[in-house]
Amino acid sequence: MANDLHTGFDETLYPYINKGLDGVVAFSTTKSSIDGQNGELIYTGFNIDVLAEKSTFEEVCFLLWNDRLPTQNELDDLTHKFQDRRDIPKVVVDYLHSVDKESKPMSVLRTATSMLSETDIHLPDDSYYEKAINITAKLPTIIAAFSRLRSGKEIVQPKATGSTAFNFLYMLNGEEPGIQAEKTLDLCLILHAEHGMNASTFTCRTVGGTLSDLYSAVTAAIGTLKGPLHGGANTAVMQMLMELEEQGKDADAVAFTKDKLAKKEKIMGFGHRVYKTFDPRARHLQKMAQSLSEETGHEELYRWSMDMLNTMKNEKNIDPNVDFFSATVYFSMGIQPDLYTCIFTMSRIAGWAGHYMEQMEHNRLVRPRALYVGEKNMDYTPIEER
Ligand code: CMC
Repeated sequence: MANDLHTGFDETLYPYINKGLDGVVAFSTTKSSIDGQNGELIYTGFNIDVLAEKSTFEEVCFLLWNDRLPTQNELDDLTHKFQDRRDIPKVVVDYLHSVDKESKPMSVLRTATSMLSETDIHLPDDSYYEKAINITAKLPTIIAAFSRLRSGKEIVQPKATGSTAFNFLYMLNGEEPGIQAEKTLDLCLILHAEHGMNASTFTCRTVGGTLSDLYSAVTAAIGTLKGPLHGGANTAVMQMLMELEEQGKDADAVAFTKDKLAKKEKIMGFGHRVYKTFDPRARHLQKMAQSLSEETGHEELYRWSMDMLNTMKNEKNIDPNVDFFSATVYFSMGIQPDLYTCIFTMSRIAGWAGHYMEQMEHNRLVRPRALYVGEKNMDYTPIEER
């Protein structure tokens, strides 16, 4: 009997496995609270609906890193630091020039983020706050630079003015965005900034729990967010909508959805481990998707989305998550589909860094157990006799 002397854990008697850690509470946090039954999301005391209406991405970063709203001076100070630190080091620029232009942007972003740690070698290990500012400031520059280089365009240097949303769109497109585009992206960044113990945040805290550095934790988190069951779903949603687009404007999204369900395929952008009702972030994105798709002459995207939404509700009683309508929003802004998860990343860094700092405050190594279901004490056959 494999009895653990330290914990009394007996793996032969262990009664069940929480597959996917469903329902397991592994940390306490002040960063966010999700009420999955009532569709409510709170960041550090503030309802997401209030923040969506009144806040900015920069203010949300301060909130998640300090557990309170900033004064005007504090917000100005953080904003100026973001603005001053947008340049990326030469080693990263060289990498972006050299990497295969067919590479997936999330893979490029993951590697470039890891390389960014070079810029902070002079900082003490516990300068998490400064490192969080540096990473948050530089992620949009990396994404925009790779996007331009792969299309054969010159990199646009960041401006040392304006919001994160403004500057990202400026670097991406080479021209200053209008106020509406800036506000739309800023709202998307607010909505994606933090979300409890999702897979990438868990990864970030697990890496932090070994006392590894913030760059390692964020690099691992980016690798986790990339997956289509997590942040990669927004790109996958757009792929579904493009499949419909190929069938023409009269494509039947109801039949399309039913067909996928009949084949036991997942409909991307639907379902959630915690929400058993409409994701509150999706409500904001739905409104934006409706107005933007009309404004840009892509009404069919919204119509198909609503057909899919109603079909999923009728057939499976499953609601959309944050990724479903964000795809139409980004498409309407002229952003290439494989960059959507990168935009999620440049927002979620706020939550990851907040959780990393929280983990450092009362750290304990994250080390769960596995139920061994293999053989034991087998006879070892010499290789020449196998
Ligand atoms: N399409 C079709 N069926 C679904 C879907 C979906 N999108 N989501 C859940 N189901 C069904 C699933 O087939 C299963 O049915 P049954 O019990 O008959 O086998 C049941 O609902 C439970 O699903 P699950 O996959 O066991 O639930 P989970 O809590 O492990 O997974 C999820 C949650 C988000 C991975 C899943 O809903 C999913 O794969 N959704 C599509 C991908 C997606 O949109 N991901 C983004 C998540 S939100 C943003 C983020 O965190 O990044």
